[in-house]
Amino acid sequence: MEQLLSQLQEHKKEITAAVVANAEQLEAFRIKYLGTKGLVKSIMGEMKNVPADRKKEAGQLLNEFKLFVEAHFEQLTAAVQTESADAADATDWSLPGQPLPIGTRHPISIVHNRIVSIFQRLGFSVAEGPEIEDDWHNFTALNLPENHPARDMQDTFYISKNPDWLLRTHTSSVQIREMQKKDLPLRIICPGRVYRNETISARAHCFFHQVEGLYIAENVSFADLKQTLYFFVKEMFGENVKIRFRPSYFPFTEPSAEMDISCLICGGEGCSVCKRTGWVEILGCGMVHPSVLDNCGIDSKKYTGFAFGLGIERITMLLYQVKDLRLFSENDVRFLKQFSNA
Ligand code: PHE
Repeated sequence: MEQLLSQLQEHKKEITAAVVANAEQLEAFRIKYLGTKGLVKSIMGEMKNVPADRKKEAGQLLNEFKLFVEAHFEQLTAAVQTESADAADATDWSLPGQPLPIGTRHPISIVHNRIVSIFQRLGFSVAEGPEIEDDWHNFTALNLPENHPARDMQDTFYISKNPDWLLRTHTSSVQIREMQKKDLPLRIICPGRVYRNETISARAHCFFHQVEGLYIAENVSFADLKQTLYFFVKEMFGENVKIRFRPSYFPFTEPSAEMDISCLICGGEGCSVCKRTGWVEILGCGMVHPSVLDNCGIDSKKYTGFAFGLGIERITMLLYQVKDLRLFSENDVRFLKQFSNA
């Protein structure tokens, strides 16, 4: 009996000193002390060697020992659990960060920004207007009355609820809105999205982007128009690009012209992009028609002005040698990310 007592004391010491650091060691502890072949079971087995008159006392001792081991096991289990929960919660600040992919500007935005900044350096400010326009601002005020044959080239999308509303076909409508303010002299560029009823192909889409420009003051001449556009082309495409003007027709300008630059792809030799002519058209321009000024309440005897309009897609295609207009609106990241360093 005394022997059993000291034996149990020893075991208690040993158990109190046991170190359990993780789930594996905890399981080893359970097997060693509480398992079917564990210490508690084997000591219980010694009851049969205890004389009958001391069985009760020994039973109490053994039972108390068993409870001690179980309580200790529970304590260790709780400790291991909080430890692993803490470990799961803990943030390791020394780990390398998760890289966030940085997007790139759309090529149309890149070229838009370049165009705007070139004209801003010449003193033009940016004016914007609505994409849903009324007939008067988009057509009539620009000398394109109903049934004018030139409307054909700018067929668009009409809003059935109100036949007077349409998706603007050019940002010339913004020029009208600005002229109506009669805050002269006026020197603006109007960038924005425009719409046309076109069959979608590599060269045409039902929407595209424009930058139109307008300068109205006293004594503005065609020479001013040419100098402004020369500056723009040199800044945009470099010193070596050649420029030519061809007479053209727009109802809202008189005289009117189209401007070509020497082909950037073949340098003027002739290739498929310039249709073997060595030249590519980049914009339309002219002196603002006196009736347009009158329509906006500006004295056409006193003021003159020039206007021009270019398509951002066209310029972007030339600069980056993009062959298909549809790529700009397909949102294919493999295409878009190529312009990251531009
Ligand atoms: N508004 C014309 C177009 O969209 C472009 C243009 C603007 C032409 C100004 C001449 C003067 O086709």
